[in-house]
Amino acid sequence: MGKVLIIGCGGVAGVAIHKCCQNSEVFTEICIASRTVSKCEAIKEKLEGMTDARITTAQVDANNTQELIALIEREKPEVVLNLALPYQDLTIMDACLATKTNYVDTANYEPEDTAKFEYKWQWAYRERFEKAGITALLGSGFDPGVTGVFSAYALKHYFDEINYIDILDCNGGDHGYPFATNFNPEINIREVSAKGSYWEDGHWVETEPMEIKRVYNFPEVGEKDMYLLHHEELESLALNIPGIRRIRFFMTFGQSYLTHLKCLENVGMTSIEPIMYEGKEIVPLQFLKAVLPDPASLGPRTKGKTNIGCIFTGKKDGKEKTIYIYNVCEHEECYKEVGSQAVAYTTGVPAMIGAMMLMTKTWDKAGVYNIEEFDPDPFMEALNKFGLPWKISENPDMVE
Ligand SMILES: NC(=O)c1ccc[n+]([C@@H]2O[C@H](COP(=O)([O-])OP(=O)(O)OC[C@H]3O[C@@H](n4cnc5c(N)ncnc54)[C@H](OP(=O)(O)O)[C@@H]3O)[C@@H](O)[C@H]2O)c1
Repeated sequence: MGKVLIIGCGGVAGVAIHKCCQNSEVFTEICIASRTVSKCEAIKEKLEGMTDARITTAQVDANNTQELIALIEREKPEVVLNLALPYQDLTIMDACLATKTNYVDTANYEPEDTAKFEYKWQWAYRERFEKAGITALLGSGFDPGVTGVFSAYALKHYFDEINYIDILDCNGGDHGYPFATNFNPEINIREVSAKGSYWEDGHWVETEPMEIKRVYNFPEVGEKDMYLLHHEELESLALNIPGIRRIRFFMTFGQSYLTHLKCLENVGMTSIEPIMYEGKEIVPLQFLKAVLPDPASLGPRTKGKTNIGCIFTGKKDGKEKTIYIYNVCEHEECYKEVGSQAVAYTTGVPAMIGAMMLMTKTWDKAGVYNIEEFDPDPFMEALNKFGLPWKISENPDMVE
């Protein structure tokens, strides 16, 4: 059918590339382009011969729009799948606009020097994408991503209006390290050390980091402590789900992770303010990233399951009802299939599906959209087909 250009070649991209190769009827050609081209070549070597897709590689600095434009003009992909870091979202969107190419990502733009992620920068491209006749699909990972698809699906099939959404992200896996992050450490630590917030009755309620704790008994995983965080899909769901009164996001953390994080924060290691060290400017958090285990190396060590889903409460035919839609994913199964742990897997699979929705024109409207603005049914079907089957419970435990 067509060609995808995947930018970035880290943990999430590794899974998405495997999945595109499994789906070579849609992705007949895959170009993998990243800062370190040897990583692209290594994965090409591993997968060539196991797929009908034609794989090529390229080196690119995704901070440089002109380099990106030249790459896109040379490769002529139907879709660019951005799996680099959130800092590169805007340069890649600029290059897609200049070349009239569809765009997909999994995380919203965040300036490198300010730990604040919000959609305003990317939503500002709406008119230009519409005029260019191309689509930008924002947030096609699991959360954001599948959580938005679950929300659209619940609204379409189960409710007249949804009033409350609790998004629960549980990683019940154990990698055996006292402290490591499951995806890019810099992005992960910026996210969890920020203030929390939730949306209620038309405004944001801000909390201190990790101030709100709940215990939840996750199906197939068991009881875990979880903490309220700010998360980017709260912003788009608050706009796109009619009748919404409150949306919260909780993520599970073990005590060892929290104790290490607190200690690292207390000594200044999580700061993004540059400091001088032996005559060179360094950012403490980037130095910390360099000494922490590479998330891509956790695959063979991680055991246990993830459970990510949403509890919806709303009204159908005048009656209040609640449903819980979730996916359970097993780290060791993911490793067997694609050589990665479940956190990268649960992001890389929906990234491939998002690119497939645009490549096949199943989702086809010009402009910049969050994932819940499209018909959820084909995406839900693809989740079952490509390794992230979901379940619906009509009588779930509630979060207080
Ligand atoms: N929505 C979700 O559910 C979800 C969940 C997890 C992660 N994410 C997002 O997924 C994305 C990838 O995460 P990850 O864990 O795979 O990160 P990662 O392992 O650090 O991979 C990032 C990749 O981007 C490349 N890169 C960074 N800067 C670049 C530049 N200027 N030019 C070209 N390539 C560049 C890196 O190159 P090098 O190899 O040279 O370092 C690396 O290959 C992030 O945006 C993250 O926020 C989303």
